[in-house]
Amino acid sequence: MSDDDELEVELEARLEEQEEFEPPESFVEQANVTDEGIYEEFEENWPEAWERAADLLDWQSDYDTVLDESEAPFYKWFTGGSLNASENCLDRHLDERGDEAAIEWVGELGEERTYTYEQLHEEVNEFAAVLRDQGVQEDDVVTMYMPMIPELPIAMLACARIGAPHAVVFAGFSADALATRMNAADSEHLVTCDGYYRRGDPLHHLDKAEEGLESVDQDVTSIVVDRLEDDFDHDLGPSQHDYHDLLAEQEGATVEPVSRDAEDMLFLMYTSGTTGKPKGVKHTTAGYLAYAAWTSHAVLDIKPDDTYFCSADIGWITGHSYIVYGPLALGTTSVMYEGTPDYPDKDRMWEIVDDHNVNQLYTAPTAIRAFMKWGEQYPNKHDLSSLRLLGTVGEPINPRAWKWYYKHIGQESCPIVDTWWQTETGGMMVTTIPAIENMKPGSAGPPLPGISADIVDERGSPVEAGRAGYLIVNKPWPGMLRTLYKNDERFIDEYWDEYSIPEKDQWVYFPEDGAKIDDDGFITVLGRVDDVLNVSGHRLGTMEIESAIVGVPGVAEAAVVGGDHEMKGEAVYTYVITEDGYEGDEELRQEIIEAVEDSIGPIARPEAVVFSPELPKTRSGKIMRRLLEDIANGEELGNTSTLRNPEVVEEIAKKAQDD
Ligand code: WTA
Repeated sequence: MSDDDELEVELEARLEEQEEFEPPESFVEQANVTDEGIYEEFEENWPEAWERAADLLDWQSDYDTVLDESEAPFYKWFTGGSLNASENCLDRHLDERGDEAAIEWVGELGEERTYTYEQLHEEVNEFAAVLRDQGVQEDDVVTMYMPMIPELPIAMLACARIGAPHAVVFAGFSADALATRMNAADSEHLVTCDGYYRRGDPLHHLDKAEEGLESVDQDVTSIVVDRLEDDFDHDLGPSQHDYHDLLAEQEGATVEPVSRDAEDMLFLMYTSGTTGKPKGVKHTTAGYLAYAAWTSHAVLDIKPDDTYFCSADIGWITGHSYIVYGPLALGTTSVMYEGTPDYPDKDRMWEIVDDHNVNQLYTAPTAIRAFMKWGEQYPNKHDLSSLRLLGTVGEPINPRAWKWYYKHIGQESCPIVDTWWQTETGGMMVTTIPAIENMKPGSAGPPLPGISADIVDERGSPVEAGRAGYLIVNKPWPGMLRTLYKNDERFIDEYWDEYSIPEKDQWVYFPEDGAKIDDDGFITVLGRVDDVLNVSGHRLGTMEIESAIVGVPGVAEAAVVGGDHEMKGEAVYTYVITEDGYEGDEELRQEIIEAVEDSIGPIARPEAVVFSPELPKTRSGKIMRRLLEDIANGEELGNTSTLRNPEVVEEIAKKAQDD
């Protein structure tokens, strides 16, 4: 072994054992937030300390109250104020940053498009004029079913400009999923595209959009972006319009940003919950935008001159808050990548970081696990020295993946922020402030200043350090969801009712995650405690998957659970009972897999379909999912004594092995 190799082995061993990392001096020196006193300041001066977030925005008229708790848990923030989100993300940057890049878009085939703030402002104005011309009025919900192309953030900002809330549906979702969401939102307007590229092949997205529209109850007008050009000839029907044709008609048009009340809805985002029906999470203009901007500033350390890259899809909340609203509100350059990280080769991300001199990279643990598996030779091919900070989101990160990210991507000179949050929280909630705290791989960190979180048992009493319990948030925060669209009752039931602590006269938000806390107040999130799976950082409801499966002829009953998966974090395991006269054979298995893909999308594709004679049930008839999870994980089977049919468990385990 050469001396160099020996040094490398020694360093590797040190890294493996190290449990706490200090932020690099070079980072601390230039960070946006460095004063430790910020925690105390928020505590002592709560809720007024949140003005700090509101101050990051331009207001058309000032707010008079920071927090209105009179109708808790329907909290209101910055009431009395008015503003416009598109003005905050565009107009106010024009004087100083008009020529700077707002979006640097990288297409999968390698083409690139840059929009300066000036250009983005222009196209957003024109598209806002298009939407108005199409009859979109303030408060009409406009659905977007689009992949990662610049027209998606353009359409979102155009909606914000005219005060029409957007509801973006992830392009990987199925036609059925689109229809369910459009029906739930009564949305009469759709912006979509003909297709996009995946691993170099054109994918005909419009077919899927049209299929979805067949099941939408109301009449819908669609605007279709031509992304594939000659790669996909498509005809447009009478209620479909070509994006670029409409835009050309409005060339040079300007639209005044409408004045939105602080609490007016900015957008809706559907997410999975315990029941089969997706929840329409409502976010508002002021609180959400202030929170996205503040966390982008404090945690991602974004400065206007930075180039920042978040690899999420805008179809999920991470892309809303941290590709579009947060970074653009701060006037920075946001990089947007259309495709997959391994096309044309496994160094695609590092090529983007290198070419664009990316300063902050925000990605998901599932991606990091893939990078790790592919090997360090891919990042090693590129100059990653522009990176200053790394972030992760979406699921717990295991210390090994954390350390790999730290060493091979951050070159041991970038802090990592492991950010815990949810669609409902609007922005980051639990994470270190990178220049202030040390990092502990695997543990997200303390709640952010002004965020009050705790770990409690079933009765709401705090559990001691090191013990697992439920994560709760016991004070409101500006970025919080305000309700579930058209369903205030469900909003209370799902998040507040059961876990509020009446004797303290306090509303407590329950995110449905298990967690533990250590003596330094660092929180390690353990995962969902409801029937929601986290597959590659994507949230999927088991009920939605089950209802797709029981729709297949021949299926009598189905149970879906999550099993551990090396790359995806969690994978979909399904247990199916067939109807009399049907065989649990390969053909039925394929039909089940297809039904899940059709109803939700390929991300929900089952890892295994096990045909079972029965499902393990308690005496009251509840399926014991815990046992099915143990089977999926090949673990020793837990206690079966409370089952009505304990004998069936061994049988299912054997079937699972044989299959
Ligand atoms: C999980 C994504 C551990 C958690 C922003 C949460 C995490 C769900 C982390 C929300 C993290 C997100 N560590 N778990 N850093 N970040 N989660 O709504 O279970 O798609 O409840 O929002 O992802 O997923 P959602």
